[in-house]
Amino acid sequence: MMFSIDHLGIAVKSLASSKSIYEKLGLTVSPEEVVEQEQVRLVMVPVGDTRLELLEPTSEDSTIAKFIAKRGEGLHHVCMKVPDLAAAVENLKREGVRLVTDEIKTGAGGHRYVFVHPSSAGGVLLELVEGHKARAMVLIGIDTSGKEGSLALARAPQQASSADDVEIVESIPLEGGTFSAQLIPQLAELLARHEVSKQDIDAFAVASGPGSFTGLRVGLAAVKGLAEALGKPIVSVSLLEAVAHGGSDMRTWAALDAGRNELYVAEYEAGVLTADERLIGRAEFVESAQGKVVTTDVQLVQALMGRGKAADVVSHPGSAGVARVGWEKLRAGLFVTPEELEANYIRRSDAELFSKA
Ligand code: CO
Repeated sequence: MMFSIDHLGIAVKSLASSKSIYEKLGLTVSPEEVVEQEQVRLVMVPVGDTRLELLEPTSEDSTIAKFIAKRGEGLHHVCMKVPDLAAAVENLKREGVRLVTDEIKTGAGGHRYVFVHPSSAGGVLLELVEGHKARAMVLIGIDTSGKEGSLALARAPQQASSADDVEIVESIPLEGGTFSAQLIPQLAELLARHEVSKQDIDAFAVASGPGSFTGLRVGLAAVKGLAEALGKPIVSVSLLEAVAHGGSDMRTWAALDAGRNELYVAEYEAGVLTADERLIGRAEFVESAQGKVVTTDVQLVQALMGRGKAADVVSHPGSAGVARVGWEKLRAGLFVTPEELEANYIRRSDAELFSKA
């Protein structure tokens, strides 16, 4: 952990008019947030590894209101991230540096900060915040394979040892039929809400199928574009793989409803594909299935159990499950380049449709 510039604080009279220049530049502006103890309303604008903090006073008595009255709008403070805030403050006090407050304050979201008085910092109001010790890996999970899709922001701490350690920060639904219009703006909002910049993303985990032809095509095209522009790796995750992951047994059949009285199935042993993904009639699968079956399909579980076969129902993995399995694959080096990313429709008719499109 090193020192870095966390953000630049800018005092403004109106957030609405001040943020527009950044929006015109194509940057993403976070939603507005009120910090009661500082009597300000603020937005963050992630810029590369750092951010701009636009501060609008919520009362005449606020520090920002007084600053604007005296000096007009403009740069208010520079915020630096330090490895150990308590040690830094102790050190500065010992050296006779003037601080605005003697104590370290705790702000929104639990971050700890202190201000160094401009008289001790060359006329600059210097904010010091504590940096995170080790950065967690940031993954975006995307599933557009079904009628309804979803998007997830996931974080894997450095000490994570299994997919269960991957934290799903937020998962949001994507309405069916609107994937192409929704995906990019929803992702931008998701990142802004959690103050994650696009550059902070370590990888994209995307459901490669099986599923809807149009949905997958849109999802994969968006991921290709994003990953290429940002220079980030893609992990391609089969939903069957994610379903099998939900089961605990060593040797597992994963099954998903494919409509038309058919199923998508694949067999895995300890997470490794042992029988290729394929399409099979329901009745035929119920008849022939050996060993454990894991599926999202309740009716299939009932049919299998009616035949005395072992079956478990799991919830649809969605973007969260895709992110979890994606993290495991990423760790194993199983990522693909944007050019290599391919949809896996399984249904031949869909594949033909795709090649003509
Ligand atoms: Co600040």
